[in-house]
Amino acid sequence: MNVVTNFKWIEAANYDEMSKIAATIFIDQLKKNSETVLGLATGGTPEGFYKELVAAYKAGEVSFAQAKSFNLDEYVGIDPANESSYHYYMDHHLFNHVDMKRDNINLPAGIQSNLEKAAAEYEAMIKEAGNIDIQLLGIGGNGHIGFNEPGTPFDVGTHIIELAQSTREANKVYFDSIEDVPTHAITMGIKTILSSKKIVLLIASASKQEAFDRLRSRIVTEDFPASALHNHPDVTVIYTDMK
Ligand code: GLP
Repeated sequence: MNVVTNFKWIEAANYDEMSKIAATIFIDQLKKNSETVLGLATGGTPEGFYKELVAAYKAGEVSFAQAKSFNLDEYVGIDPANESSYHYYMDHHLFNHVDMKRDNINLPAGIQSNLEKAAAEYEAMIKEAGNIDIQLLGIGGNGHIGFNEPGTPFDVGTHIIELAQSTREANKVYFDSIEDVPTHAITMGIKTILSSKKIVLLIASASKQEAFDRLRSRIVTEDFPASALHNHPDVTVIYTDMK
């Protein structure tokens, strides 16, 4: 199916500029509404973005005191204290350095006796918060958003997913070995992501060139999860030279 995309494409001169542009969008949103519900992402791509947010907070330009956040995903079976967990990543890159209230920070729990129930509860909490006002996204080389791997139906909320082998390979740099990379994750679903009011997608590495080209092609298919974003009315893609 071909659709007319609503995307706003912004080409940044380099990685730092991409991070700054994205941070400015989030800072402006927080200035407009201090109670913004933030949707946050992990990975190598948004590290510069978080640096910019922390710098803006330290310069007194923005406060997170009234904001709420929901992260996209977490590995199943990885303790929040583990340095490879997304809980740890978020503390390290953002939460330890800004005035977010701990009670307002939410990440899906990767260690739970009943993961399905935890997923349903996470989904309900997002709804209860009035849905996400602004969602940050990266993209996997295979087009995954959050951990929604190719083939994930677009109409599913937060759920447990088996990670694609290519995703485990791509993320093994964050673990001691491939055997240590979890096989499953808990992730917001594509339905959850599409319920966000505004979406900002960052693309910045050579390994994402194919994904970038597929997104540009505007073909919407479950084989390429990020293509679901063409069904959303307010997506900004900020990208930089992928060579
Ligand atoms: C990870 C995360 C995604 C992230 C993507 C790209 O597996 N679950 O949320 O956007 O893969 O990561 P990176 O920015 O490190 O390339």
